[in-house]
Amino acid sequence: MGGRNIDLSGKIALVTGGSRGLGKAIALAMAEKNANVIICGRKQENLNKAQDEFKKQGLDVMAEVAHAGKSDQLTALFKSIDERFGKLDILVNNVGTNVLTPLVAEADEGLWDKLMETNLKSAFLASSQAYRLMKKAGGGKIINISSIAARKASRGMGVYCIAKAGLEMLTRVLAIELASDHINVNAVAPGVVRTQFSQPFWSDENLLKELTKSIPMGRIAETGDVVGAVLFLASDLSDFITGEIITVDGGSMA
Ligand SMILES: NC(=O)c1ccc[n+]([C@@H]2O[C@H](COP(=O)([O-])OP(=O)(O)OC[C@H]3O[C@@H](n4cnc5c(N)ncnc54)[C@H](OP(=O)(O)O)[C@@H]3O)[C@@H](O)[C@H]2O)c1
Repeated sequence: MGGRNIDLSGKIALVTGGSRGLGKAIALAMAEKNANVIICGRKQENLNKAQDEFKKQGLDVMAEVAHAGKSDQLTALFKSIDERFGKLDILVNNVGTNVLTPLVAEADEGLWDKLMETNLKSAFLASSQAYRLMKKAGGGKIINISSIAARKASRGMGVYCIAKAGLEMLTRVLAIELASDHINVNAVAPGVVRTQFSQPFWSDENLLKELTKSIPMGRIAETGDVVGAVLFLASDLSDFITGEIITVDGGSMA
């Protein structure tokens, strides 16, 4: 293990859904720590905007359109990564969607499938693709972005809660299965983070006040609050940690 500073020099890192919100903050932080970063998203214009932001900060990023829940699109993305870099060291399974859902018993099958595809199947598909490249590199780090919703059943968020609970078990199963290949698999579970995705929770002042009462640290997270845990899990500081879920929620689940 090197010094105590996080340095990702020479590392190739893919952040799915890295064109906005938490994924973009993670991707930028990894690039600042000298990693070669790749981001994907469904919409080219969002990727272009993110790329401009990287450029403004003097950082480089490879950006490619790919829906993380569609295996053909991921196969094309990983082929590009393999052609350009020949390996992958870090995968952040960050995509997630639709926090607010009807009651589970009233949800239609299409919504269930869409949420499972984006919030759970995407991590299975990308991790399977990454496994091949990480084995080639002699090891790697997979970090899944979960949520405190994985462990706290919440009315109106049911299907999302179930998908994130699946993501946490996927984390633990992959951790034991891939340990002998020197691949660490961990997750970060944030509480509410101020992004477009969570807007319903913070855009109404009264609702935000109510929500804040349940957070011992007295505020919701900004994206920067979550980045540190991801960087730690991506770095050699966490080489003997696998199958772990780090909660980043200002104490709400304590
Ligand atoms: N914000 C919170 O309060 C909070 C709390 C706990 C956990 N989380 C988790 O944190 C992660 C990031 O959330 P966020 O708040 O940053 O969300 P966000 O602001 O909605 O950003 C989502 C990003 O993912 C991309 N994306 C969405 N679906 C995709 C797909 N199927 N394939 C590829 N890219 C996709 C989006 O770009 P395109 O639209 O162009 O595809 C965008 O770049 C999610 O897993 C979420 O569940 C968030």
